[in-house]
Amino acid sequence: MSIVKLAPSILAADFARLGEQVAEAADAGADRIHVDAMDGHFVPNLSMGAVVVESLRRVTHLPLEIHLMVSAPDLFFDELAATGSDSFLVHWEGNNNLHRTVQRIRTLGKRAGVAINPATSAAVLEEIVQDVDQVLVMTVNPGFGHQQFVRTTLPKIRRVRELIERHHPVCEVEVDGGIDATTAPLVVRAGATVLVAGSAIFGDRHGVGPAMNALRTALNTKRDTEPAEWPALQRS
Ligand code: DX5
Ligand code: ZN
Repeated sequence: MSIVKLAPSILAADFARLGEQVAEAADAGADRIHVDAMDGHFVPNLSMGAVVVESLRRVTHLPLEIHLMVSAPDLFFDELAATGSDSFLVHWEGNNNLHRTVQRIRTLGKRAGVAINPATSAAVLEEIVQDVDQVLVMTVNPGFGHQQFVRTTLPKIRRVRELIERHHPVCEVEVDGGIDATTAPLVVRAGATVLVAGSAIFGDRHGVGPAMNALRTALNTKRDTEPAEWPALQRS
């Protein structure tokens, strides 16, 4: 069993069968469910919020992580926390008070993460990484599922991992966008420990369970032939 965590993104799920699909992901060993909240302003798309989180909370015990692609994330924490969210991922971009936002998440007793877009340097994390549980490296431009993986993010994942090893080694390195059986081994070799995947899991014609197994097989196959370069990946 791979020690890399999988976070299926329900953005690619069939919303008419959302509970069923999340149950399939849970049965297949999903570590958490990734919920993409969009406001049509921070990104050019609308998606879901507390109503969906509330419904999901009734049907799964898996941690629910909320990726807030919104201009004013602080406005949504209270309701999202009350409806059963476990962690909040907020973007570095456009937030003039990121430290305050992270402290607010902590005050609510939730896990906190900071997300960075493809054009944002790993270096911006240096003064915040000590305060978060996870960093989310966007491997596509946020806003839509099923986009092509941006390969130039690979060296950045490596730089994020190095920075985390120096400042806060328990912090997770999560990646989001275009993750499939081809790109998953690349991001893991670069230092990712948590993989968000939407279309590769919910869009696979073989079903959710087989799709998650295919991702794990890709990781394990790669690891057999190319030993992990990051010793910390061996930790649980
Ligand atoms: C994109 C979202 C992702 C999205 C990934 O802005 O943050 O979580 O669901 O979708 P795939 O895995 O299809 O690229
Ligand atoms: Zn996301």
